[in-house]
Amino acid sequence: MNKKKLIAGNWKMNGSLAANESLVKALAQGVGAPACDVAVCVPAPYLAQVQALVSGTPIALGAQDVSQHEQGAYTGEQSAAMLREFGVRYAIVGHSERRQYHGESDELVAAKTAAALKHGVTPIVCVGETLAEREGGHTEEVVKRQLAAVIHVNGHCISEIVVAYEPVWAIGTGKTATPEQAQAVHALLRAQLHHAASDHAAGIRILYGGSMNAANAAQLLAQPDIDGGLIGGASLKAPDFLQIIAAAR
Ligand code: 13P
Repeated sequence: MNKKKLIAGNWKMNGSLAANESLVKALAQGVGAPACDVAVCVPAPYLAQVQALVSGTPIALGAQDVSQHEQGAYTGEQSAAMLREFGVRYAIVGHSERRQYHGESDELVAAKTAAALKHGVTPIVCVGETLAEREGGHTEEVVKRQLAAVIHVNGHCISEIVVAYEPVWAIGTGKTATPEQAQAVHALLRAQLHHAASDHAAGIRILYGGSMNAANAAQLLAQPDIDGGLIGGASLKAPDFLQIIAAAR
């Protein structure tokens, strides 16, 4: 199966008009014809700006969240249909920072996943255990529960989603999971996908996220079940992000 890897930058709440312009211009200039798919997930106010900047480049546009609702009295939310109007291809859902700081439950993440799929936006569904959960021996149970919540999204095939394994203890800490630790969890997730949709499991991309950088990307991406990366800090520096892209083949 010819499955391209996906390297997606998650800018989180960083950027400015000036900084975005120089970052995306540098990426567009350096990216060439990448062997992998590439995306940048930007803060909502910058969608229009970055849509214009990535136009005509191999870089796809992503959002960092999406509402589960269609429209209406939901102050502060953005619907999937709105995101589509700005050419958004991907939306991160269930990032651990949203689960942690905004109380997002597995059910809410599943509803957001469904809303994205309904409007042709590919959800990048994040799963991952905290340090306490890992140390307590609960990694498998936690990630399986989080993935199970999105596996049966009505009317859609699971193959339409991207999964991102992001161990919470590795996010922004400089503590990357070792390639073996990451692969072990990716293999569990793959097996779960296989059980739910045997025809499609091999084609579903499972990204790794958590302190992935230019120095460790190649080793992580060489693991059999790591199909790309969701990159925070290193996606804000063009040379670093470009090196990660180059490592994904
Ligand atoms: P860092 O790469 O900064 O650890 O962030 C990872 C992440 O949360 C991507 O969504």
